[in-house]
Amino acid sequence: MEALEAINRRRSIRRYLERPVEFEKITTIIDAGRKAPSAGNLQDWCFIIVSEKSFIQQVAGFSVEQYWIQTAPLLIVVCAMPEKHEMYYGLRGKRLYNIQDCAAAIENILIAATDLGLGSCWIGSFEEDKLRALLSIPPDVRPQAVISLGYPDETPNDRSLVPVENITFFNRYGMKIERLHIVLRDYSVEWQRQGNKLSQRLNNAARKIKEQYNKISERLKKKK
Ligand SMILES: Cc1cc2nc3c(=O)[nH]c(=O)nc-3n(C[C@H](O)[C@H](O)[C@H](O)COP(=O)(O)O)c2cc1C
Repeated sequence: MEALEAINRRRSIRRYLERPVEFEKITTIIDAGRKAPSAGNLQDWCFIIVSEKSFIQQVAGFSVEQYWIQTAPLLIVVCAMPEKHEMYYGLRGKRLYNIQDCAAAIENILIAATDLGLGSCWIGSFEEDKLRALLSIPPDVRPQAVISLGYPDETPNDRSLVPVENITFFNRYGMKIERLHIVLRDYSVEWQRQGNKLSQRLNNAARKIKEQYNKISERLKKKK
């Protein structure tokens, strides 16, 4: 499968078959995660594979009642070491880069899983302290996301996507494709627009004058 095909096919899967995920697939997926870009190549992440059924059940219990998680044969918990980033890049590293690094790794994992015929879901709603305690995660390591993995037992409905022209600008914020002529420096279109606006304003002014004139004439007629 090509990368774009996997990107286009990836969806969040929230129901899984009772079928184990092959070990080679798990290692391929982790390998894809660790090959994500990271600021300064710090690779400040680690991945905890959770296959213990009772652990998965507990995670479902403290993930705002997302009991569907129990159907997943496997979870991958993606963790960051924010302090490592702070050492190199200060607050920006701690607050931004380490989150971006992990997000890149997570996306690689989701795409790799799709490529291997697996379903997955990025889970952000969970009680961090409980997850820490369950998996013995030390205080300087932050679990950022739980990813469920398994063979899909559902086909999600089509999702709605924001139109590309609403979120894509050219060269300047707010420059939408509707005004592409400005990007292409075809100012004649803009002149014509401004000309149309001006003639519209003149027409409106002429109409108002005519209305006023008619009103005054009516009044004068009545006086006579
Ligand atoms: C940061 C983040 C947190 C998310 N947390 C959850 C979650 O807790 N539970 C869940 O079911 N889906 C979660 N999702 C998945 C989104 O709901 C899903 O990606 C979105 O609805 C779009 O659907 P799609 O993934 O099928 O394209 C999360 C996604 C992201 C990026």
